[in-house]
Amino acid sequence: MSQDQWAAVDRYISDLLVPQDKALDAALAASAAAGLPAINVAPNQGKLLQLLAQTVGAQNILEIGTLGGYSTIWLARALPAGGKLLSLEADPKHAEVARANIAGAGLSAIVEIRLGKALETLPQIVAEKLPPFDFIFIDADKANLPDYFAFALKLARPGSLIVADNVVREGRVIDAANEDPNIKGVRRMNEVIAAEPRVSATAVQTVGSKGYDGFALIRVIA
Ligand code: SAH
Ligand code: DHB
Ligand code: MG
Repeated sequence: MSQDQWAAVDRYISDLLVPQDKALDAALAASAAAGLPAINVAPNQGKLLQLLAQTVGAQNILEIGTLGGYSTIWLARALPAGGKLLSLEADPKHAEVARANIAGAGLSAIVEIRLGKALETLPQIVAEKLPPFDFIFIDADKANLPDYFAFALKLARPGSLIVADNVVREGRVIDAANEDPNIKGVRRMNEVIAAEPRVSATAVQTVGSKGYDGFALIRVIA
C-alpha cells in the first residue's frame, strides 16, 4: 500500500461522492496562486466535517486555523439559516486570501475571520460570552493543542463535538521520545482528553491524498 494507492482511492471516493464545486475549486486555486501551503483538508475530509457538523445540528461553529478558508467553506455550508462560523487565523495573508475565498462562496455574511494568534483571540472570545459553539474544528499549530482543547471545552456545551486534525502524523504520535513540539502537543492533548471526565473521545487514523494522519473526535458530555 502506498501514497499513490491512497490518493487514487481518494480520487475514486471524491469523484463519486464529493462533486466538483466552483467555489471550493476556486478557493484552492487562489490559495495556491497566493503561495499558501496545500495543507487544507482533502475534499472527502471536508465533506466529513460538513456531515459531522450537520449531524450535531450545529448553529454556531468555531474553527481554529483558517488557512485559505477551504475547510471553512465546507463547514459554513453545514449551517442552517441564522447560523454563524467564527474562524481564527494568525497570518494576515492567509486571512486575506480566506476572506476573498469566502466572499466568492457567498458566505461573508455568516463567516467571521478573526485575525490574531489563537491564544490571544480565544480569551477575548471567552470574554464575549457568545452562545456556545456546537462544533469546533481545531486545525492550527499543533504545539498549542492542549490549550486549544481547553478553550474548546470552555466554549462548548454538553453535546458539542470537537474535532482535531493531524493527530497521527505518519504514526509519529506513538514515539514518546520525539521532541518535535507538534508531536508533543498532540500527545499532551491526548493525555488531557483521556483524563477529562467531561468528554467522550476517540481518534481514527486516515490515509489518502493528504498522506497518513488522523482525526481526534471528542464529544462533550457534561
Ligand atoms: N483548516 C484549514 C487548514 C489550516 S492550516 C483547512 O483545512 O483548509 C493551519 C493554519 O493555522 C495556517 O493558516 C496557520 O497560519 C494557522 N495558525 C498557525 N498558528 C496559529 C496560531 N497560533 N493562531 C491562529 N492560527 C494559527
Ligand atoms: C500541516 C498542518 C495541517 O493542518 C495539516 O492538515 C497538514 C500539515 C503542517 O503544518 O505541516
Ligand atoms: Mg490540518
